[in-house]
Amino acid sequence: MSSNFSESQARDAVLDAQERLHEGRRNFFKVLGVGATAASGLGAALHSTPALAYGGPYAAAFGLDPGRTFMNIGTTGSTPIAVLKALAANNALIARDPTMTFNTQDMRNIIAPGFGADPFELVMSFNTTDGMSKILNGMQFNAGDEIITTNMEHPGGNSPMAITADRRGVVLKRINLPTNDAYSDATVLARFQALLTGNTKAIVFSSPPYLTGIRLPEKMLCQWAAAQGLASVIDGAHGPGMLALNFHDIGCDFYAGAGHKWQCGPGQTGILYVRNNTTPAAPTTYTKSVTIGGETRTLTLPGYTNTTALRPFWPTISGGYSMVAGSTLQGGVRDPADNVAATLMSIGNPSYPALRALQECCSMWDSWGRQNIENYIVALAQYLRSRLTAIWGSRCLATVYDANTPHHARIALTSFNPFSPGYDYNAVLSPAQATAQTAASNAAVATLRDTHAVVVRNTAVPHSLRGNPAANADPTTMSHPLRISTHLFHNMADVDNLVAKLLLVVPHP
Ligand SMILES: Cc1ncc(COP(=O)(O)O)c(C=O)c1O
Repeated sequence: MSSNFSESQARDAVLDAQERLHEGRRNFFKVLGVGATAASGLGAALHSTPALAYGGPYAAAFGLDPGRTFMNIGTTGSTPIAVLKALAANNALIARDPTMTFNTQDMRNIIAPGFGADPFELVMSFNTTDGMSKILNGMQFNAGDEIITTNMEHPGGNSPMAITADRRGVVLKRINLPTNDAYSDATVLARFQALLTGNTKAIVFSSPPYLTGIRLPEKMLCQWAAAQGLASVIDGAHGPGMLALNFHDIGCDFYAGAGHKWQCGPGQTGILYVRNNTTPAAPTTYTKSVTIGGETRTLTLPGYTNTTALRPFWPTISGGYSMVAGSTLQGGVRDPADNVAATLMSIGNPSYPALRALQECCSMWDSWGRQNIENYIVALAQYLRSRLTAIWGSRCLATVYDANTPHHARIALTSFNPFSPGYDYNAVLSPAQATAQTAASNAAVATLRDTHAVVVRNTAVPHSLRGNPAANADPTTMSHPLRISTHLFHNMADVDNLVAKLLLVVPHP
């Protein structure tokens, strides 16, 4: 592979994807009734420092501090200016008339098709942790049941799994996720398969895991789980807003994502999906008549790739549960006719303005085109990876750079390790080297932020071991790579700026 060739190919891919976003961008400003100039004026009004960063196609829609380049959307995003204004106005409306309510079913009717879900299955939750807790505490488990999960889960998923283990006697079994050239989708599947026993009831995995940003083969894993009679749970914290998701096609039983990360909704917003039907089977589509703003609309929704029976599921937080036989989720029974999402969202008085803001962000993304967004931000991440590979070599990333963008690279998170010997993501570290690397990595994050105005984060990763790809580093020898997020407000100049700053801050050849 010639890295120069890859770099120019990656550059062309970004320009192509950017071109396709332009049409959506024009529509967006038309919908808002504001011009691009007006929108950037609003952004400037929110801060006083001169514009330095952000040249992305939608940079003007966001009020990020232009004095620095924020590249940690993986932790949380930035709510678009127009949505913030509406959020403030809606809060003021409710303060003026506290009896005011907003129609949350309308919101679900608007956003569910953008996620390949039925509005009855799509819950506007509080965040990923909330979604994972509702899923794992709501599923039916008995003592001795087994869950297969991974060694790279986030506390938002690990914590409810731990409660399930301690409270109900569920056994957690973990596969090691491979990294760099030890990674392949087939290896991941084989490791899940190797832990299957007669007691296995579910698989739980995050895609991408927050530690590496490697996208796992969600559909392959869910189809395998369905074929074994297992439930599938995805911690998709980073999915909404980054990826063009189609839950019916993925075939998962449950998916918990954030609304406040890549989807750029306000804090404490999330997207939770609960499969609640088995028909029609994909590729057939179906229509559903809904009302939005009092008007009847017909939604066209994708059929289900997972047509296995619906297992019992209980709402754990709900003011909408009743012991009346046949009511929604009564006795854990899932009736496809029921509006499961409404029952799961019935939690006292919500923040209507925050929910509306999440819906507005989703509507923006729908109008810009979710596939176009994914294509652009993944292309930008690929450009970044091509540049890092050209300088630090093919071992420096969580996955080896591949100009063909395989499924596992269709992700806008990049995990990069310039700190290990040989710039090798999978280098075997001694405990002393691991400790020194943690300090070096923390210092680099701080210097990038404080001296060079670039915000990234780092993670502690139990990477595969170069000397034994079947094993992963133990907690005393984990590596500490940097994790970089690229989004709609960035462009190649922002990536080039990051790489230039990295060359000043981290070890390089
Ligand atoms: C994989 C994963 N799961 C869960 C979470 C928790 O997210 P939230 O703040 O939406 O609860 C994160 C946050 O970074 C994450 O990366």
